[in-house]
Amino acid sequence: MSQELVDLDDIQGLVAFGYGKLKEACFLLLNVRDAAAARAWLSECQVNNAVKPKSAPCTALQVALSCRGLCALGVPKDIVQDFSPEFVAGMSSDESRARRLGDVGENDPARWQWGNTPQVVPHVVVLLYATEGRLAAWQDEVLAGCQAGFTLVKRLSTTDMGGREPFGFKDGISEPNIDWERERPAVDQELRDYTNIACLGEFVLGYPNEYGEYTERPLFDPQRHPDADLPRAEDQPDMADLGRNGSYLVLRQLRQDVGRFWQFVDGVAHGDVAARTHLAEAMVGRSIDGDPLIPTGEPIAGEDDPRNTFTYRGDEEGLHCPVGAHIRRSNPRNADLPPGTRGFISWAIRTLGCDADALANDHVSSTRFHRLLRRGREYGTKLTLQQALAAPLDTAHGDHEHDGTGLHFICLAANITRQFEFVQGAWLAGVRFDSLHGESDPLLGNRQPDPAGAPTDSFSIPVANGCDRRVTGLPQFITVLGGGYFFMPGIRALRFLSKVQP
Ligand code: HEM
Repeated sequence: MSQELVDLDDIQGLVAFGYGKLKEACFLLLNVRDAAAARAWLSECQVNNAVKPKSAPCTALQVALSCRGLCALGVPKDIVQDFSPEFVAGMSSDESRARRLGDVGENDPARWQWGNTPQVVPHVVVLLYATEGRLAAWQDEVLAGCQAGFTLVKRLSTTDMGGREPFGFKDGISEPNIDWERERPAVDQELRDYTNIACLGEFVLGYPNEYGEYTERPLFDPQRHPDADLPRAEDQPDMADLGRNGSYLVLRQLRQDVGRFWQFVDGVAHGDVAARTHLAEAMVGRSIDGDPLIPTGEPIAGEDDPRNTFTYRGDEEGLHCPVGAHIRRSNPRNADLPPGTRGFISWAIRTLGCDADALANDHVSSTRFHRLLRRGREYGTKLTLQQALAAPLDTAHGDHEHDGTGLHFICLAANITRQFEFVQGAWLAGVRFDSLHGESDPLLGNRQPDPAGAPTDSFSIPVANGCDRRVTGLPQFITVLGGGYFFMPGIRALRFLSKVQP
């Protein structure tokens, strides 16, 4: 990583590291009780930065603020309004957003435990990571230090499930590779091949994104706050850049009904172990141990992990990996041009839209504008497969007070709408995806009928030379219990936000 081109010492460490070695973690949702004391704590808390440490740390602390949090701290309104509209509005702000994100029915924000009305959107989230055995004492220390300024709204605990999510699948395999060296040409050029390298500006504000542009963020005349120690905007050097080195952080508490998932697939498979495994893996798009379902070995720029050296080119019909599988929906691994062989004639045919396969694939927007940096952690009790198959069906299904077991989904992005909301809304919750219609993500779907009243509770498995096999009656496996949009500022911006007065 290049220190001159990128202010690594000003970027919070979570952008660069998942802190995977710090196996204990908890997320403290806090509200400001005394603005002066809260500002004092924020101005001094020790936030880990993105510089690679010489030796692995034993603890790490990261901070992010919601729009309500910025207001509660007394940040001037015009500065707050310069953050992105969806951040200002909030995740549960209106029915239209809730519908787009699939937050209806059981997922309706009115039923959430936290984050659902203006009163309970937490002001601040403090993310704590620690080596085994160290978290409890350290969390007490942090809470004691900040209690004059904050009240604890909720503590989101996590469980180390050994690199697997609660259904038992290996997780954390595919992540975009950030171009920290800033070598990727930041221009909107035609890309013929899927690449795993993403411009820094896709995840960190103040740097060029995949369009070669700087995402909008709060900038102001340095004369306005002469004492502010903020970087200048690269694209407007006469302006102070409050966004630079910051990211938006999306947090969603997703309860997973592990018993229901395995008992459903077992029922469809009539208890046949191989058929059960096959169906569950088709729904995810990977084997339980994380192997892809389609042949690998395709060179992918910026990708070293052999489990990720593949695209869906050559499997347009989804015979190896169903088109509707979770990982195919969440990252269709396509490029700007519709797929096809290389060479000018092929390029011209595809670009002119004369290729039928290419037209089918046009329904899936180019992936590079919709990448997410996932940083979630599992929580609750880990069940073995045998326990899941024998578990009484989650009696708390529908009881939103019960945390159960699941994933605290976290992702970082520079543009919440273009990245998180697009993936969640259009690709996962949406009932039209690529050639599919009338079904949503097999793991995350809320199974609510579409606006015309048609069911959405099926999952299609393409079959060679025949009609798709359609598994119907999928229950809802995952329920949203809370969520919010936060801004994880650069460290200098955090200090500025803790001092600035209206
Ligand atoms: C409890 C809910 C969820 C479960 C159980 C789950 C499970 C998984 C699993 C098993 C993988 C494959 C392993 C990997 O590549 O890391 C995966 C990949 C992925 N998931 Fe999820 N996921 C959940 C929620 C979400 C949500 C809400 C989003 C986005 C809004 C999302 C986006 C992705 C992406 C982008 C990938 C990587 C796909 C790729 O690049 O191949 N997931 N997920």
